[in-house]
Amino acid sequence: MNFLKWIIPSRNEREVKKLRPVVAQINEIEAGLQKLSDDELRQKTADWKARLSQIQDKTELARALNEILPEAFAAVKNACRRLTERKTEIIVREHPLLWEMIPFDVQLIGGYGLHSGRIAEMATGEGKTLVATLPIYLNALTGRGVHLVTVNDYLAARDSEWMGAIYKFLGLTVGCILHDQPPRVRREQYNCDITFGTNAEFGFDYLRDNGMAARKEEQVQRGHYFAIVDEVDSILIDEARTPLIISGPSVHTYDEQYGQWKPLVESLVRAQERLCARFLSEAEALIKKLNPTDGSNPQNSEALEHEIGLLLFRVKTGQPKSEGLMKLLEDPENLKLMNRAELDLHKDQKKVDLYREKEELLFAIDEKSFEADLTEKGRNFVSPKDPEAFVLPELTTALHEIDAGPEPDARKRMEAKTKVQQDFETKAQKIHAISQLLKAYSLYQLDVEYVIQENKVIIVDQHTGRLMPGRRWSDGLHQAVEAKEGVEIERETQTLATITIQNYFRLYQKLAGMTGTAETEASEFFDIYKLGVLVIPTNEPCVRKDANDAVYKTRREKFNTVLNEIKQIHAQGRPILVGTISVEVSEQLSRMLKREGIIHSVLNAKYHQQEAEIIMRAGQRGGVTIATNMAGRGTDIKLGPGVAELGGLHVLATERHEARRIDRQLRGRCARQGDPGSSHFFISLEDDLMRLFGSDRIVKMMERMGLEEGQELTHPWLNRSIQQAQKRVEQHNFQIRKRTLEFDDVMNKQREVIYGFRNEIIHGEDVRDRLMDIMEEVVVDKVAQFTNAESEFSEWKTRQLADWVNLNFPIGLPEAEILKAADSGKESPVPESLFAGLSPAQFAVCNFISDSVRKAYDLKISFENPEALKEVERFTVLSAIDRLWQEHLYEMDSLRYSIGLRGYGQRDPLIEYKAEAFKIFDELMVNVKTEICHNIFRSASSMLAFENFLKNVPQQTLHQAASAFGGTSTASSGGAQAKPSDVVSEAAAAVAEKAKPVRTGPKVGRNDPCPCGSGKKYKHCCGK
Ligand SMILES: Nc1ncnc2c1ncn2[C@@H]1O[C@H](COP(=O)(O)OP(=O)(O)OP(=O)(O)O)[C@@H](O)[C@H]1O
Ligand SMILES: [Mg+2]
Repeated sequence: MNFLKWIIPSRNEREVKKLRPVVAQINEIEAGLQKLSDDELRQKTADWKARLSQIQDKTELARALNEILPEAFAAVKNACRRLTERKTEIIVREHPLLWEMIPFDVQLIGGYGLHSGRIAEMATGEGKTLVATLPIYLNALTGRGVHLVTVNDYLAARDSEWMGAIYKFLGLTVGCILHDQPPRVRREQYNCDITFGTNAEFGFDYLRDNGMAARKEEQVQRGHYFAIVDEVDSILIDEARTPLIISGPSVHTYDEQYGQWKPLVESLVRAQERLCARFLSEAEALIKKLNPTDGSNPQNSEALEHEIGLLLFRVKTGQPKSEGLMKLLEDPENLKLMNRAELDLHKDQKKVDLYREKEELLFAIDEKSFEADLTEKGRNFVSPKDPEAFVLPELTTALHEIDAGPEPDARKRMEAKTKVQQDFETKAQKIHAISQLLKAYSLYQLDVEYVIQENKVIIVDQHTGRLMPGRRWSDGLHQAVEAKEGVEIERETQTLATITIQNYFRLYQKLAGMTGTAETEASEFFDIYKLGVLVIPTNEPCVRKDANDAVYKTRREKFNTVLNEIKQIHAQGRPILVGTISVEVSEQLSRMLKREGIIHSVLNAKYHQQEAEIIMRAGQRGGVTIATNMAGRGTDIKLGPGVAELGGLHVLATERHEARRIDRQLRGRCARQGDPGSSHFFISLEDDLMRLFGSDRIVKMMERMGLEEGQELTHPWLNRSIQQAQKRVEQHNFQIRKRTLEFDDVMNKQREVIYGFRNEIIHGEDVRDRLMDIMEEVVVDKVAQFTNAESEFSEWKTRQLADWVNLNFPIGLPEAEILKAADSGKESPVPESLFAGLSPAQFAVCNFISDSVRKAYDLKISFENPEALKEVERFTVLSAIDRLWQEHLYEMDSLRYSIGLRGYGQRDPLIEYKAEAFKIFDELMVNVKTEICHNIFRSASSMLAFENFLKNVPQQTLHQAASAFGGTSTASSGGAQAKPSDVVSEAAAAVAEKAKPVRTGPKVGRNDPCPCGSGKKYKHCCGK
């Protein structure tokens, strides 16, 4: 680290030195520009824009920009000069502001750093806002849109108005994205040459554009060319801890069920507790027998030990959090007996004994796999009359029997199947709810895993002990705990679209950032964003006086001294900025100051605009401002009259932050632009940082020196030790962030594929072609699934194939036709084609089915409004992608969660996660196509078109066609203008009357093998 420290500045200095000639060149050009008229200056913008718009190639564009750079920077500087000389007043956030800035040389260097895609580290008050105008102007000349990213809406609006003066003067357009803007307005803002906004707004717009918009007119962004991130450390490191998530109500919800089954589960849990108490007392008795008080050796001790082990194992399975058990297991001897018994039970391949042991209980909890199962006894307990009520039927067999049964009518077969599936679903939901409730009661303890606050269940992070408000356990577990605690059961929400900040910003072709503090995190910026850091020297030398850290034994002593120092400096009239690391500490300190009668302001980074106005005045004589570390960032503190003579602003910190960067940021709030100023940090050994990460050496040294109550310790050596502690935390947090990112990379790749697919559909001219291709792919898939190249036709599952075809397409395909087509097959498919590997017979069947579908589709087209149909087709594809992608996100969430819980022995959970994720993504793609197929004929541009088409489907097939057509019919009224999302439910209802719906809910026995015999899970096959 020291080595790096030593090398970075020198490299940095060389880098900065290299730029001096460029600066000289800019200044020279600028001197020449002074004699131009405003219009002549502005003409340059137009000329450059025209020239750059001709260039497509990235490298060539970059080269051209570098060429223009000195002149373009000079143009910006010159525009600043004109505004300054004319004493131009600009309205910024409703206040008039005099423009009096002409970029300093160091600012030109900073601008160059940004243009070259780096982070410019420039201290507070060095004028980064102005620095950004140089590269923004230059890059906006490409017409590709430059984004400036701020930490809050207030700064976005402020800077777009303030710096907007320059851009407008030079003939560029400026926009700003604000939270409550509708899409139309957003699109206008994005269409400007330069767009300001917060990271969240940019990120959410991306998600909405790519994951939700149904047509290109609904998309607002126009690409990701160049972004400059202000306060880059705060956004790319601090904010990057939480991903951006758009969520909506979950479809997987049976909220009522939890309340409904609660009383039953409660009595079940109590009965089990009694049972386990009995096992425990039996075990205790046997333990006494095993260790007689007279010290003698008991007989058959081996059998005794085995028996004790089994009893303990039973309790562990039935009531894992039992206090009695915990107590007994404190004796390592007992733990050994239990583990040995468990091992024995698992040795047996068939697990007969294990099963028998579990049957002693009402339900069995497996802490590792996180399952809770009712036993035979338990089922009898909850439903004495009908123990089968909690057994899932053999869906596969049941459905297969119907398929192979004597019923000749496809519709009746479907109805019978639907009924079986619905029963299955009801039972599955019930069982799921009960199992989640059992877990809530058996594995989740109040004030350990969660706490109750304001009638809400809040998760406690098991590693840090921190509360995690807003986070919810998935898959109904959270609701089960809510039911258990009798608080309101909240509707489950589900992720609709999500991206991490890291992955959003990686979308940009070019990225740059600016902040007062980047150096300490340089390696993270480089690792994750490929961003280098360029430290820009200050315009004036910095004369701030940094005192050594003051260390105390207790927080109480520390705060007493803090208070004294504030009183003392305040008495001199010097303004003070007090930094805290949390809102609680801010408020505590505020109370103390109030008692002393010291007037002060408290800022919590909640009301950005108000707080910016307060902090702007924090440098006035006698001011005392308490602020958490984010409050008022981005607004610089100018000294009031006479304050410089007193020694300038004093910064006082009540704690060291986990990250050195945040401390530097606070320190940097004073002594800007060569002003005087001072800073002082206070620490106690009771602070979290010192408790958790401070080395023992500090404590030992404090003890050796025999530190008295109230005594202070300061020493440069201590500063270093504390910095070491901070470095350790930084490293630790970086590792966590990196790990999270590795997990997210998996999702990121999937998102790219899906968003690519969506965009292809949204922007493509002809969706129909793609639709027919997809149909063909699925047909090939199904034919391969139900038939076999090697076997006799008689062994083919032609009935299932015919059923599948008729369920999806109104072509009324009789089974016999399939065989007829197969018989006619002479030609082998071309290798490499979609049909590769099929026999001539299979090939012929595929062609026969696809041709019939195409013919039917042509018939359909003849009844449709062609323009409207295009929209409907687009919608058919998009809705399948969206519905299943959201379902997939849900599964990925659960997967992530369960991977976290599952112990994988020596295996890396990330690898397991990748493998599983790959598998379910593969399934997703198949499912999307299958669902699209299913809906091709179920969508129409109007009810009339749909009915006319059904009427004209050839007579003999109508019956079968109709039998398949009760599902979701999508039709939009009013022809071409109608939005596809205006689904006419009437249409669906009308058709549904002709035949009962065959579609069952997505949750129906989702994980069961599909009845069609494909070997895939039901949810991934016909069950959709
Ligand atoms: N070249 C200049 N000449 C005169 N004043 C300048 C110049 N550049 C910036 N300033 C002034 O310096 C002040 C601080 O500017 P700005 O807020 O951009 O700083 P910053 O580097 O972004 O600080 P922070 O780290 O607090 O965000 C502003 O009041 C601005 O008007
Ligand atoms: Mg700033």
